[in-house]
Amino acid sequence: RLLIIDFGSQVTQLIARRLRELSVYCEIHPYQNVDDAFIEAFAPKAIIFSGGPDSVTREGSPRPPQAAYTAGVPILGICYGQQVMMQDLGGEVHGGKISGGGGTAEFGRAFVEPTGALALLQGWFSDGREQVWMSHGDHVAKLAPGFEVFGTSPNAPYAITADVARNFFAVQFHPEVHHTPRGAMLYENFVKLAGFTGDWTMDAYREQAIDAIRAQVGDAKVICALSGGVDSSVTAALLHEAIGDQLTCVFVDHGLLRLDEGVEVVEMFRDHMNLHVIHAEEQDLFLSELEGVSDPETKRKIIGRLFIDVFQKYANEIEGASYLAQGTLYPDVIESVSFSGGPSVTIKSHHNVGGLPEKMGLNLVEPLRELFKDEVRALGRELGLPAHFIARHPFPGPGLAIRCPGEITRAKLDILREADAVYIDQIRKHGLYDEIWQAFVAILPVRTVGVMGDGRTYDYACALRAVTSVDGMTADYYPFTHDFLGETATRIINEVPGINRVTYDITSKPPGTIEWE
Ligand code: XMP
Repeated sequence: RLLIIDFGSQVTQLIARRLRELSVYCEIHPYQNVDDAFIEAFAPKAIIFSGGPDSVTREGSPRPPQAAYTAGVPILGICYGQQVMMQDLGGEVHGGKISGGGGTAEFGRAFVEPTGALALLQGWFSDGREQVWMSHGDHVAKLAPGFEVFGTSPNAPYAITADVARNFFAVQFHPEVHHTPRGAMLYENFVKLAGFTGDWTMDAYREQAIDAIRAQVGDAKVICALSGGVDSSVTAALLHEAIGDQLTCVFVDHGLLRLDEGVEVVEMFRDHMNLHVIHAEEQDLFLSELEGVSDPETKRKIIGRLFIDVFQKYANEIEGASYLAQGTLYPDVIESVSFSGGPSVTIKSHHNVGGLPEKMGLNLVEPLRELFKDEVRALGRELGLPAHFIARHPFPGPGLAIRCPGEITRAKLDILREADAVYIDQIRKHGLYDEIWQAFVAILPVRTVGVMGDGRTYDYACALRAVTSVDGMTADYYPFTHDFLGETATRIINEVPGINRVTYDITSKPPGTIEWE
């Protein structure tokens, strides 16, 4: 496996992505956690130093431990990682002006030209030069002993350097980002020369994860909050494969699910996959506590609190459970190295079971901790979860509550469920489901006047939402054709009593959010 030491770059995760795409197993660890003992225990086959926002010229700036250099494995230093390597090994780094420009600071596209042959660069320069993305304030002024230059750009005379004897490579630019179009090849060359064969497959991961779960849990009992979402579903399926009946899932039905969702989830896991699933039918509890509440944050807090109460109540009935399984993914795990810090504004209180384990004295099992979302989907396929299930759009914990601005009533929820089902059916029929990151209907807290046949109607308006996104952090509205929108509006109004007006939400995120609340 490969170790990435994180010095706080915004794009460290992308390094891991590039390596995973090469079927190489890697882990990111923040520099604070990596000392000599860590390196010895981790026994990496290669090490990458990430970029970072600090300046190596500053006293006390982040450093890798000495063992990184003496482990006898190839190292690739990127940007800050390059400068750290130079300074640690006896070169010199000069400060540019980090803010205010001038000096040698360089941000943006540049072109690197080769000045010598190097295994790392095998086949890389396509046109006698290669586009790269630079983002640095400082620069290397003198190479460390043993290093030579293999690529230069007009502003970075030491763009690519290496100590060939030790397989230490250091680049000034970021090969992991999009703006270095052929950067993946450098990673490919690097892992090849480090001896990786690219044998990290989902099948291997599954076996490895199952062994790890068995070793961690032994014959203890495990509970899992099953939501029907991809992450919790894959977690449950994996645990079931590892420990069978030692696992009990609690599926909390808060009455805010989509049409037939509760029954479908329970049927699939209980009847088809033979998991032990408790269907906590607590619709009345949730809906009565939400009665008369229209403030979005209050709704979220009520649902979050009740969820924990309910989960706890059912979990307490499972005798001797000492572990809680959670579908935490890699992007949630990586401790980001922040130098600025400071509290950020709460846009929405997200619904999660974060505090539960301590409250209930449970240990955590998080078998997806090393995976990215698309890898979780691949693992789900390996585990035999149906493809349509794995490809489902994300669905928020608070469910339809946050798609029903204003007061929530059972009548409104029923209308919303019907409209949403028609909309999703339309999207599937037109073959658009997989192009869209998330699509849903929100029922608006206004009624409008319409005419149907010869009669007047006075019913709810709804908004259709559909976005494309990579991670939910930013999103663009989906450009449906007018024909699609017209046909969908007609179907909803004809098929869903209670709605007589359909609008399409064309707000991107930012400034909007994906959900309406
Ligand atoms: P927003 O509305 O913040 O949503 O743009 C971004 C993504 O997160 C989902 N979402 C949630 N997921 N618990 C969740 O598990 C929540 O409380 C929650 N709120 C929003 C939302 O559906 C979108 O995919």
